[in-house]
Amino acid sequence: MKHVSYWDRLAASYDDLYKDRWSWLEDEHLAKRVRRLYAEAGEGSVLDIGCGTGLGLEMLPEGANYYGVDVSPRMIAVAKAKHPAYRHHFQASDMVHLKGVPSDSFDLVISLHGPLSYCRDPWRASIEIARVLRPGGRFILTAMNRTALWRLRNGWQYKHVFMSSRGDDSDPSMKAEVFTRSELKKLFDWADPSVSGLSMLGRVCEFWPLWPADRLACLLAPGLAYGHIVTGRKRHEQAST
Ligand SMILES: C[S@@+](CC[C@H](N)C(=O)[O-])C[C@H]1O[C@@H](n2cnc3c(N)ncnc32)[C@H](O)[C@@H]1O
Repeated sequence: MKHVSYWDRLAASYDDLYKDRWSWLEDEHLAKRVRRLYAEAGEGSVLDIGCGTGLGLEMLPEGANYYGVDVSPRMIAVAKAKHPAYRHHFQASDMVHLKGVPSDSFDLVISLHGPLSYCRDPWRASIEIARVLRPGGRFILTAMNRTALWRLRNGWQYKHVFMSSRGDDSDPSMKAEVFTRSELKKLFDWADPSVSGLSMLGRVCEFWPLWPADRLACLLAPGLAYGHIVTGRKRHEQAST
């Protein structure tokens, strides 16, 4: 499948693509929120969807009850090699149909750096997240923003971007879905979601001193950030499908 082979191809060099300062700062920003939700979720079980090489695991305290799934078998192989103690906790699976993952089984679902934008059916993926979360369980995910500042010139009317922006071997014909805040709110309305911005200027001005201004801008104008951070909590009364 083209979609899977795209990520398979990136797996071996994936970590090297994000060794720049901005990526590090973004990861720190996300890690703080992940750890806060982990505490709120009683330090219980965590499912990392679209886990890639295991960044989500690296954000959690040692010994966390963590599982990671990803559609790319090669990403999974790299994650296992990097985290041998968790080698049995990583498995290849598509987020639109989390085969073998029981319902109501996780206290926290994380999905970092846009798997929702890359999967082919975000609606089904949101249903799967709701299904595998325990009632009261938390989630945090990021998705690409349709109204991002950097997309001004490209036109906000398009629902997709093509993946050729980084200096990797991206396939320019690979599509990623971009979302407005209200689309995400609708998608996750089962969780009373809160949607905030992820790094407004980061990809526009790769300039370290702007980081605090960048975060402030995200707070003031999250609608222009390049990504969204969506957090929420599965309602207690919600029945799993
Ligand atoms: C940009 S990477 C992020 C990886 C990791 N979460 C991180 O933050 O480093 C996107 C990941 O989503 C995975 N992915 C894409 N579509 C998916 C799907 N339908 N189901 C599960 N994973 C998917 C890719 O294989 C890739 O590892």
